[in-house]
Amino acid sequence: MNHKEISRAVIGRLPRYYRYLGELKEEGIERISSNELSIRMGVTASQIRQDLNHFGGFGQQGYGYNVNNLHEEIAKILGLNIEHKLIIIGAGNLGQALANYGNFEKRGFHIVGLFDENKDLQNTNKRDIPLYPMEHLEEFIASHQVDIAVLAIPKAAAVEVADRLVACGIKGIWNFAHTDLSLPKDVIVENVHLSESLMQLSYRMIGK
Ligand code: NAI
Repeated sequence: MNHKEISRAVIGRLPRYYRYLGELKEEGIERISSNELSIRMGVTASQIRQDLNHFGGFGQQGYGYNVNNLHEEIAKILGLNIEHKLIIIGAGNLGQALANYGNFEKRGFHIVGLFDENKDLQNTNKRDIPLYPMEHLEEFIASHQVDIAVLAIPKAAAVEVADRLVACGIKGIWNFAHTDLSLPKDVIVENVHLSESLMQLSYRMIGK
């Protein structure tokens, strides 16, 4: 099946499978039945089978899943076997916090630079990721083969900066700015809104 035909709900569950399988690997578990995996993850075994069947199944009757293989297969499906280079636009609180988080590298996402329009800004990240002025953006993207940009700037600036990134050939935008971007179809935008997640928490707490 073509990746594009698979629902976002299925894709949305894959990182969780990947995380659980990584934990099983760390525990030295080599194989697991879909029933055992379902108990660990709190989803039904049929959900797991259905989700994985979109990509060819991977399980064997009477054997279950080979943890190592399935972990690797899901990594491939998610494109985690490809190294990505990221830049963060906006080196304020959020940009610096993202730059300080070292675990993205483990999944193949390398943050190679921070950019900000404020030339007086102090670079506070603890991982020595360099901070550049916006004038260097085009040259840096071209010379470092950057493919993903993180938008950690106010929404008023996001559309203009996103257009500039697309003109430089950026193919993925991880958008934290509170605005929807309408960009060419070949540019993938993933919006992150922590406050929406918090609102869902609030909703689910009502009446509890
Ligand atoms: P901040 O004010 O600490 O940092 C924003 C930075 O962006 C500043 O350093 C500023 O100089 C820079 N900037 C502004 N316009 C720019 C431009 N055109 N080009 C390059 N740099 C520019 O703000 P903070 O707390 O880091 O938040 C950043 C943005 O992310 C805010 O708009 C906020 O609403 C949003 N945000 C979104 C979250 C989410 O879950 N989606 C969570 C937290 C913040």
